[in-house]
Amino acid sequence: MISHDRASVQTEIKPRRPKRRGTLAFLSEFILSPLQIGAFAESPPWVARAMVEGLGVERARAVAEFGPGTGPITTEILRRLPQDCTFFAIEKSDRLAELFRKRHPETTLFHDSVERIREFCGRMGVEQLDAVVTSIPWILMPGSLQERILDETLAMMRPGARFSTITYRSEKFGLVKKFRALMDRKFAVVEPVSVVKSRLSNAYIYRCTK
Ligand SMILES: C[S@@+](CC[C@H](N)C(=O)[O-])C[C@H]1O[C@@H](n2cnc3c(N)ncnc32)[C@H](O)[C@@H]1O
Repeated sequence: MISHDRASVQTEIKPRRPKRRGTLAFLSEFILSPLQIGAFAESPPWVARAMVEGLGVERARAVAEFGPGTGPITTEILRRLPQDCTFFAIEKSDRLAELFRKRHPETTLFHDSVERIREFCGRMGVEQLDAVVTSIPWILMPGSLQERILDETLAMMRPGARFSTITYRSEKFGLVKKFRALMDRKFAVVEPVSVVKSRLSNAYIYRCTK
């Protein structure tokens, strides 16, 4: 009886260790670079689903993810992608890129800034993206950088391509209002699609169409 109890305790504890290490690494990256990371914990699966739903990735030929961190949203994207779709991700943080590669060893990751999206599309042989899934902390960036990255991204998206993004504040917050106004100027359609409970706050998700 005693050895059975020990065995079951062990099987419950073992799979949790890597996740705790990932959680701690994410939190410590946030403490070191709060403006770059923008959240203290990775997205839970229900947020990942809400980010990817309705983008049409199931029929896409080319998809990019911006700021995958440890890769929870990537898991949801990969679950839906058709086999012949080109997919790549771009992550700036050294530590999170390392953890991403462990979690998704088969996925192409550019350890760099999304500002170079054109170049990475070229390297992947992608002329036009069908969807971009982005969780970089837009509202914490200077307006000029937001605009530059959006322009570079839109230049690589086909007309009608979809884009999703997330923020942890509502539009009552001035920085969100400003970024929403920028999206309204750049995209043909901007829809606030869902408010989902995340770790300690609500997550506000937008889906845009070029
Ligand atoms: C809020 S975290 C989201 C992480 C992950 N997608 C998730 O949902 O758990 C934002 C991520 O964007 C990355 N990031 C911020 N600015 C970036 C940039 N200019 N280029 C690439 N990645 C960036 C951060 O390093 C961080 O991993």
